[in-house]
Amino acid sequence: MEERSWTPESWRTLPISQQPEWEDLNALSLVEKELQSLPPLVYPSEIKELQLQMAKVAKGKAFVLQAGDCAESMVDFSANVVKNKLRVILQMAVVLMYSSGVPIIKLGRIAGQFAKPRSSPFEVVNGEELPVFRGHNVNGDEATLAARRPDPSRLLSAYRQSSATLNLLRSLTKGGFSDLSQVHNWNQKFVAESDEGQRYDVIAKEIERALKFMAACGIDLNREESLRSVNFWTSHEALLLGYEEALTRFDRASGTYLDLSAHSVWIGERTRELDHAHIEFFRGIGNPIACKVGPKADPKEVIQICETLNPNRVPGRLTLVSRMGAENVEFKLPAIIKAVTEAGHPVIWSCDPMHGNTFVSENGFKTRNFEQVMSEVAGFFKVHRKLGTWPGGLHVELTGEDVTECLGGSLTISEEDLDTAYNTICDPRLNARQSLDLAYRVAELLISK
Ligand code: PEP
Ligand code: CO
Repeated sequence: MEERSWTPESWRTLPISQQPEWEDLNALSLVEKELQSLPPLVYPSEIKELQLQMAKVAKGKAFVLQAGDCAESMVDFSANVVKNKLRVILQMAVVLMYSSGVPIIKLGRIAGQFAKPRSSPFEVVNGEELPVFRGHNVNGDEATLAARRPDPSRLLSAYRQSSATLNLLRSLTKGGFSDLSQVHNWNQKFVAESDEGQRYDVIAKEIERALKFMAACGIDLNREESLRSVNFWTSHEALLLGYEEALTRFDRASGTYLDLSAHSVWIGERTRELDHAHIEFFRGIGNPIACKVGPKADPKEVIQICETLNPNRVPGRLTLVSRMGAENVEFKLPAIIKAVTEAGHPVIWSCDPMHGNTFVSENGFKTRNFEQVMSEVAGFFKVHRKLGTWPGGLHVELTGEDVTECLGGSLTISEEDLDTAYNTICDPRLNARQSLDLAYRVAELLISK
């Protein structure tokens, strides 16, 4: 196959979709220059470590939990928001680790998950046509013309907020906050308070027994370093390539360019066209990367994506995140898995059960139903079991806050409840309880295999 040269800016000559209508291109270019001079947000050695972990996932020896906001907010940003999100992800990871029997790679949609692809560039609010909200790194979510104007200086704010978030995550994951016994205590509290308590209690008790067994073996759970600190990685959709390019640096040690805006980045369902800008940018960066795959994807097209993004077939470099919708997953996913496996591509298969299951409720809220989300996950596992492939990951939108954005779960949020705490600036997220419900329900699936 022809070898096309790649540079961090080679995407610029290709067609690109889902970009803001920046009015002042000079201001944008000045911001990008400034970003180029700023320190990276993550470090090459961390990316290398994540790549090793992801290779284990590709070989069926680990599982990746990718979770966090649909879009991080610059308005609703605080230490507590970050802490609560981390807490729920760690809680889910313990449950999944116990039930899968393999290490769980914890990958946040956090510290840079701002930019959003949208289904339409405009929306009508109270009779006025407005440019759509594209994420707080581009414009404001308030429904006014002034707020919706794209502002390049927001890219710098995004960099600063990502940096502050990473700083907090780094300290929370190295200190007592992420201690296994502490996380287990939170889970016990959740189970005790949950309506589904009895159902989940079986798993919680087994985890408790496993911890006691370790203690009886002479392992001091409060001292053991591997139980006291966790690796927590960051990821986001790399939609605004000017920002990503500015944080892409050459790593002499590996001889590759790395996008140092996050440990891993992904391409969304709406920007994965071959020979377009996003695929071009992604093929040249050495990070572990992912690409969303929806129900319209043709198996041949997916193989071409794999060939372009991972020509050397490095296990774990590429994750395919399927987001088919509960009713499609069992029909659409098998052909894609078969084609990719037959072509010899060592991808990680991850399930995003959120984006194919969004709808507008009768009272006008964009929402998702917990049972439908769960049903896509169940379908994903079923397909992989049948084909003998490894269901390697889960990709979910959640928050640690007590919001009412998705229907169902053990507290059975109904359509009438949605406006109680509907706080998302983009897609509806599972709240802390629904996220843990999901983890325990997935645990049941894993244990019953
Ligand atoms: C997302 O992950 O927030 C998203 C927009 O997903 P998709 O590209 O799969 O629609
Ligand atoms: Co989303």
